[in-house]
Amino acid sequence: MPERTILLNPGPVTLSARVRSALARGDWCHREPEFAALVQDINQRLAAVYADLAGRFDAVLMTGSGTAAVEAMLATFAARDSRTLVVANGVYGERMTAILAAHGRPHEVLGGDWTAAVDLGALERRLAGDPGIRQVAVVHHETTTGRLTDLDAIGALCRRYDAGLLLDAVSSFGAERIDAAAWNLKALAGTANKCLHGVAGLSFVLAERSVWAEPGPAVGSLYFDLRSYHRAQQAEGYSPFTQAVQVAFALDEALREHAEAGGWQQRRRLYRERAGRIHQELTKLGVPALLPEADYSCVLRSYRVPAWTDYARLHAELKARGFVIYAGQGRLSPAIFRIAVMGDIGAGDLERLEVALGAVLGPGAATTAS
Ligand SMILES: Cc1ncc(COP(=O)(O)O)c(C=O)c1O
Repeated sequence: MPERTILLNPGPVTLSARVRSALARGDWCHREPEFAALVQDINQRLAAVYADLAGRFDAVLMTGSGTAAVEAMLATFAARDSRTLVVANGVYGERMTAILAAHGRPHEVLGGDWTAAVDLGALERRLAGDPGIRQVAVVHHETTTGRLTDLDAIGALCRRYDAGLLLDAVSSFGAERIDAAAWNLKALAGTANKCLHGVAGLSFVLAERSVWAEPGPAVGSLYFDLRSYHRAQQAEGYSPFTQAVQVAFALDEALREHAEAGGWQQRRRLYRERAGRIHQELTKLGVPALLPEADYSCVLRSYRVPAWTDYARLHAELKARGFVIYAGQGRLSPAIFRIAVMGDIGAGDLERLEVALGAVLGPGAATTAS
């Protein structure tokens, strides 16, 4: 095995030494005041990642992966007496649809080609023609392809037609811009182990204070009823169920690193730089991107598996050199591979990656492996 393995999958990420050592901070009980204080502090700092959210949105921390936060957000806030329109252009949009169906919430879907931008005209027609749609659920960064959704346009429509935005920000929170007021944002779901560079196991939901104050629909789930978390965490910092204590230590440290390094703007700049370098190398090697360059988030890009190799071979050969890439998902599964740039990746790692890509995909690669 290589000395150091770099995760280029979209989370969990390669940990920094600081975050990894925070995991060993100690044995704390989740029902002791020091842990309750830590949860309140983390919640404050999650909201403070975006100046626009601080003071207007309250966070709740929950144990579970990103899907748990998305499910809890929809279970707690998607109405029963009006409809939620899901904008679905990838696996995670489809997952929100499946969650709404599982929770028996009235919903509709605006689907489309996974490689195309959201059809804004169709979205406006749906919102304008149907006052029964009161919420729109969107994935900020559709990790299936790497597309950054045009939230400025979608959010403006949400404002115009007074539909609350429920946002899956699982793979964007901490690195892409969020403009809560302009987008009519009511709530978003995020996770510790992607752009924030924490460890998998904790996720969170941020919702506008007025939204927490509403009675909301009957949730129909004990674990996913976020109002019970909100009440308890706001009051004293305790949670209804056992939290992942050591994962919270790691998130605490990861948030400190995030702030010290210049917040989401600097993280976006860093990711763009990394992604741009990898893109240049792959373009040189003749590997085509799935989407136009301007459509990608800073976090991840998707590429077509070139004709002279296949995904399994590409993955294995890069892994042997210390890099874990990610397969396509759903209907794009055999045709594409993905490279994310989150986590503790240094200049030396990027240089090694360029060499590895050249060795695995460059001239002669097809013949040496066959
Ligand atoms: C946009 C988005 N939403 C939700 C999820 C689900 O997160 P998890 O796998 O942590 O449940 C992911 C995971 O990659 C994601 O990228």
